[in-house]
Amino acid sequence: MATLRQSYIAGVGHYVPSRVVKNAELEPLLNTSDAWIQERTGIQERRWFEEGKDTTANMGANAARKALEMAGVAANDVQLIVFATLSPDYFFPGSGVLLQRELGINNNAPALDVRNQCSGFIYALSVADQFVRTGMYDTVLVVGSEIHSSGLDKSPNGRGVSVIFGDGAGAVVLRPSTEEGQGILSTHLHSQGEHAEELIVKEPSSNREERLQYILDNPQDLFPIMNGQNVFKHAVVRFPQVIKEALDQNGFQPTDIDMLIPHQANLRITQYVQQKMGLSDDKVFSNIQRYGNTTAASVPIALSEAVQEGKIKRGDLVCLAAFGSGFTWASALIKW
Ligand code: UT7
Repeated sequence: MATLRQSYIAGVGHYVPSRVVKNAELEPLLNTSDAWIQERTGIQERRWFEEGKDTTANMGANAARKALEMAGVAANDVQLIVFATLSPDYFFPGSGVLLQRELGINNNAPALDVRNQCSGFIYALSVADQFVRTGMYDTVLVVGSEIHSSGLDKSPNGRGVSVIFGDGAGAVVLRPSTEEGQGILSTHLHSQGEHAEELIVKEPSSNREERLQYILDNPQDLFPIMNGQNVFKHAVVRFPQVIKEALDQNGFQPTDIDMLIPHQANLRITQYVQQKMGLSDDKVFSNIQRYGNTTAASVPIALSEAVQEGKIKRGDLVCLAAFGSGFTWASALIKW
C-alpha cells in the first residue's frame, strides 16, 4: 500500500463568552459551595453565553477565525468543515452549515456535524485527518463549540451536574504536512453504548408520539443527568488506556510525552491520569479551573491556550485524550 500523507495542525484558536460565573454565584441557586466545587472538581469559575450575542455556531466561527489566521488560510479556502457539539443551535440542520454561513464560506464546501460529546473534538479531528491523509482535501476546519448554560438545571436538583459545565469554543485548521513525520501520527476512537444513559440529556426524543406534550409533562428530562461516580470510575481507566494505545502504536513511552492535553472533565480525573502515566506537572495542561467542562470545546480551547502560552514547541510530542458520554473515548498523538 502506498504511504499516505499526514496532516498537521496549521492553526488553532479559541473563543469564550465574556460572562464569568464564579462558584459563589451558584451557591444560592444550587445549594452548593465554592469549597465543595473546588475540592471535588477543581473548578473556580466558568463562562456562560450571552443570549443575542453568542451562539454555538458563532462562537465556533470566532474560534475558527483565529485558527484560520494562524494558518494563513482564507475562509473560502476551507474544503471541509467538521463541527463537533452536543448543544447545536437547531435540532436540525447542524451547526456546521451555520458556521459556514457565519464565516462567509461560499464555495459549497461540505459541512459535517459530529455528535460525540466530550470525545467529539477528537472524533472530529480523526475524521478530518482521514480526509487529508487520503488526499481528498487539503484544508479542513475542525471546530468544537458548546453552550451548556442554557440547558442546565439551575436548582438544587441539578447541582451534581450543573456546577461542572461551561460554554466556549475551539478550532483547528488541518493541512497536509510538509515535513516527514510532522503532524498527527495516529488517532484512536472507542465507544461502549451499554453505558449510554450514564450521562445523558433524554429529551427532546424522537421516540414520543407527542414530543411537545411529553416535554411539557416532563420538563426535567431536558436537563443533563449523570451517574457521576460511575462516569468517574470509567474515565480513570479509559484515559490511561487510550493514551497508552496511542504511544504503543507509535513506539513511544509515557515519558516521551511533552504535553498531554486531556479533556477537562474534572481536575481530580486529570491528576489521577497524570499520576498513572508518571507525568510531571509541566507536561499536563489544565484550564478547568477557569472554564469548567466545555465538552467538545475543552480540548481545542486547552490546546489553543497551551500554544498561546508557548507551552508547545515545534517537534514536541503532544497527546490529546478524552472520555465522556456514550461512553466514548479517544486520543490523538501529534508531532507538533
Ligand atoms: O466530561 C464527561 C465526563 N464527566 C465526568 O468525567 C464527570 C465524572 N464525575 C465527577 O466528576 C464527579 O462524580 C462529580 C464532580 C460530578 C461529583 O463528585 P462526587 O464526588 O462523585 O460526588 P457524588 O455525586 O458522589 O456526591 C457526594 C455528595 C452527595 O451528598 P451525600 O449523599 O454524600 O450527602 C451529593 O448530594 O455530594 C453531594 N453533592 C453536592 N454537594 C454540594 C453533589 N453535588 C454537589 C454540589 N454541591 N454541587
